[in-house]
Amino acid sequence: MSRLREACEIDLYTGDRAIARSELIDRVREKQGLVCLLTDQIDRGVIDAAPSLRIIANIAVGYNNIDVEHARVRGIVVTNTPDVLTEATADFTWGLILAITRRIVEGDRLVRRGEWKGWALDFMLGSELRGKRLGIIGMGRIGQAVAARAPAFGMAVATSSDRPFTARLRPEGPDLPKIASVSFDELITTSHVLTIHVPLTGETTHLIDARVLARMRRSAYLVNTSRGPVVDEAALGWALREGLIAGAALDVYEREPEVHRDLLGLENVILAPHLASATIETRTAMADLAATNVLRVLAGDQPLTPVNL
Ligand code: DGY
Repeated sequence: MSRLREACEIDLYTGDRAIARSELIDRVREKQGLVCLLTDQIDRGVIDAAPSLRIIANIAVGYNNIDVEHARVRGIVVTNTPDVLTEATADFTWGLILAITRRIVEGDRLVRRGEWKGWALDFMLGSELRGKRLGIIGMGRIGQAVAARAPAFGMAVATSSDRPFTARLRPEGPDLPKIASVSFDELITTSHVLTIHVPLTGETTHLIDARVLARMRRSAYLVNTSRGPVVDEAALGWALREGLIAGAALDVYEREPEVHRDLLGLENVILAPHLASATIETRTAMADLAATNVLRVLAGDQPLTPVNL
């Protein structure tokens, strides 16, 4: 904010919910730059309401909330915040993997309910990761950062992604482990933990549906830190209830902040409130990158992280 304030006049929305579409349309009219969040729908109507707009800077790596193509047609640059959130998101993904396979959240709930009767040999047994297969759907930066952490937990990594990935994400980072390249069907039927790291597009909407869930191992866990609509939540509730998979850990939902009611009553699912990038360091870096993009475009320079140039 302070960097933007030095160079621009700011109209700051301070509500704690997403701005109403009518208010957004009203306030964006004369603006040259728009900094928005993944909860703001920047559709054709919003874009057309702002004839002077030159940049839409999303504070998120995902930009499915923006009509990027229409912005391109109108000559408006759209930017996102990749890289700066990769490590935080990969850490959180592993937090979810450990928490669901070792029943940490379920155990916490039990203790708080006063139901813990003491240590027992067969009490709340989870599942070990060592020697198991981690299936990664989506091998972009975050998928690769998740893969890079797998050797620490003794997991073998597989993916169905055919995009080439780098041997090392950061110069100082670890080398990627050996990653088996398999078909999507082999990935979903053989993985013990399946973690999703694809952007939300027409193709990835409900990529994980009832058919896929029914083909997964009964002992498998599903983890989603990408976008909610990639998983059919009603189908997931059914699969968890019927024991078709062992558990799921979600950070994202089809209609945030709503969570499908079938999931709310289940013990074998962790429901996190879209927190994967939520560290002080990462959220500060995301905001800073968005500000840099705005300042560069308004000064006539190339933005650092455009998605539609
Ligand atoms: C993103 O950036 O797309 C995440 O969902 C929020 O950090």
